[in-house]
Amino acid sequence: MNLFDVYPINPINIVKGIGSLVYDDKGTEYLDLYGGHAVISIGHTHPHYVKRLEDQLHQIGFYSNSIEIPLQKQLAEKLGKVSGKEDYQLFLCNSGAEANENALKLASFYNGKKKVIAFTGAFHGRTSLAVAVTDNPKIVAPVNETDNVIFLQWADETALEQAFADNEISSVIVEGIQGVGGIQVAPNPFLQKIRTLCDEHNAVFIADSVQCGYGRTGKFYSHDFAGINADIYSMAKGMGNGFPVGGIIISPKIKPWYGELGTTFGGNHLACAAALAVLETIEQDNLMQNAAEVGGYLIEELKKFDKVKEVRGRGLMIGIDLSTELPNVKKDLLFKHQIFTGEAKPNVVRLLPALNLTKAYADRFLEAFDTTLKNS
Ligand SMILES: Cc1ncc(COP(=O)(O)O)c(C=O)c1O
Repeated sequence: MNLFDVYPINPINIVKGIGSLVYDDKGTEYLDLYGGHAVISIGHTHPHYVKRLEDQLHQIGFYSNSIEIPLQKQLAEKLGKVSGKEDYQLFLCNSGAEANENALKLASFYNGKKKVIAFTGAFHGRTSLAVAVTDNPKIVAPVNETDNVIFLQWADETALEQAFADNEISSVIVEGIQGVGGIQVAPNPFLQKIRTLCDEHNAVFIADSVQCGYGRTGKFYSHDFAGINADIYSMAKGMGNGFPVGGIIISPKIKPWYGELGTTFGGNHLACAAALAVLETIEQDNLMQNAAEVGGYLIEELKKFDKVKEVRGRGLMIGIDLSTELPNVKKDLLFKHQIFTGEAKPNVVRLLPALNLTKAYADRFLEAFDTTLKNS
């Protein structure tokens, strides 16, 4: 049987990882500033993570949500503490798309309305409603098309006010920093306007934190920079450091009822152990502070390069906007300097490393980046 060929892949077989380094099957070392797409939050094979998962595996890996799973409560408590949203409620699932799907559905159950506001440049996942609020017609299948989604220009407050005029809006979904959209930071007044309008119209503010959340920006949720609370935060990527786990946290004003949401695998014992290990490490090793410091340093240093059009982002979620006349920078970083980075259209190099990236590795990248630009 062949694999269903949907991914353009690099001919590299990574077989081992430790911290911010990964190694291929020939023993070549790579610096990982991509984190497998913002997933590796506490570094590859972090000892606390490995031990917690291994211990759990020896106990029990899975049982269904029909029984008590104290690990879920421990996770909810820890997440409340580390994120500062202690009065929220946690629903666990398995991926970012699923988290957003549940958030959008829950919002509609809550207020009985149907329309969703999303923004240009948004990426929210590939399941039916998540893809319908994603601004990429190419990945929206005919069956996913719906009249319930209103796309507005990113950060356009006037358009937002107009869209709310008919009072049909169920929810607004917005990334604190657009990832796939090229690392676009949501301006604070824009997020504050969403908060005000949602309050005025009993709509639900959904903060997609799948990529920009979990401490990556130096605050737990990047929407926190605007000094507002969303009604629902969706999370995944960094949550399990590679173990598939996602979730939403839900404001206390939204009350659950039996059967409203559900999942077979969500919140299983192993997923909870992984998520707890991540939060414990973020807390013990001050990783949000490290993300702010090392990220801040990288952003300032990157701004000094003449050939860089713009540097965007916060903490360790960084977009380096390059002219399309420099199309090979990402490829050269990988194949000439053995550094993994991400990308976004048209020519943005995305940095999404583990939150414990050291300054020494940041410098290693800056040197390689300098050489790459000089030779481009
Ligand atoms: C902001 C955002 N939301 C949702 C998703 C979807 O997450 P998943 O691929 O886990 O379904 C992604 C994935 O890249 C994302 O960046």
